[in-house]
Amino acid sequence: MKKLTLALTKGRILKETLPLLREAGIEPLEDVHTSRKLIFDTTMPDLQLVIIRGTDVPTYVRLGAADMGVVGKDILLEHGAEGLYEPLDLGIARCRLMTAAPVGWRSDGPRIRVATKFVNIARNYFARRGQSADVIKLYGAMELAPMMQLADLIVDIVDTGNTLRANGMEPLEEIAAISSRLIVNKAAMRSQHDSIARILADLAAAVEGAGHAAA
Ligand code: PRP
Repeated sequence: MKKLTLALTKGRILKETLPLLREAGIEPLEDVHTSRKLIFDTTMPDLQLVIIRGTDVPTYVRLGAADMGVVGKDILLEHGAEGLYEPLDLGIARCRLMTAAPVGWRSDGPRIRVATKFVNIARNYFARRGQSADVIKLYGAMELAPMMQLADLIVDIVDTGNTLRANGMEPLEEIAAISSRLIVNKAAMRSQHDSIARILADLAAAVEGAGHAAA
């Protein structure tokens, strides 16, 4: 039988994914936090894990190098989810994609400058509102941009709000609620249907259980 591959997003999402996988009967055979390996066998003999950057997960799954993936909704909104099934909201790594500005900021012109790594989301958001916006792509530390007069606003992930507060900023409007999603390659969903359906059902039960535990 062909081994299935599940691509996981490293970092905070990974920390929250592993307990759900364990609940679903899937555990890596080595400690993924200390190992430098990228591919891990699991307690499910026909399933292996690969651990990569979130932005790479949809690429692996879309092109069939991985059969399934775990990735933030922010990545799917920014880079598109064409060619992918998105059957399960895992309910982990919850946060909000928001606009934010220095405390007390008021728009004083027809155009605003927006710094973000989510340029497609930001362009669509301001276009829908009929607001002219110059969107500036950054790769990190978005909060610095208004302080350095590079931009008026930012579009970024807000979790606790601590990063904004620490930098004299406040959240303005929510663009989207974010959580991690299970994605599946369309061809694999057909060719490996039984195995994938079983993993999906086990993960859905684990999500359900985690929801009850949190309630
Ligand atoms: C995100 C985001 C903020 C921070 C918000 O960065 O870009 O900087 O988290 O979290 P808070 O509201 O709890 O302060 P992340 O740590 O994911 O790193 P990144 O910049 O590499 O995406």
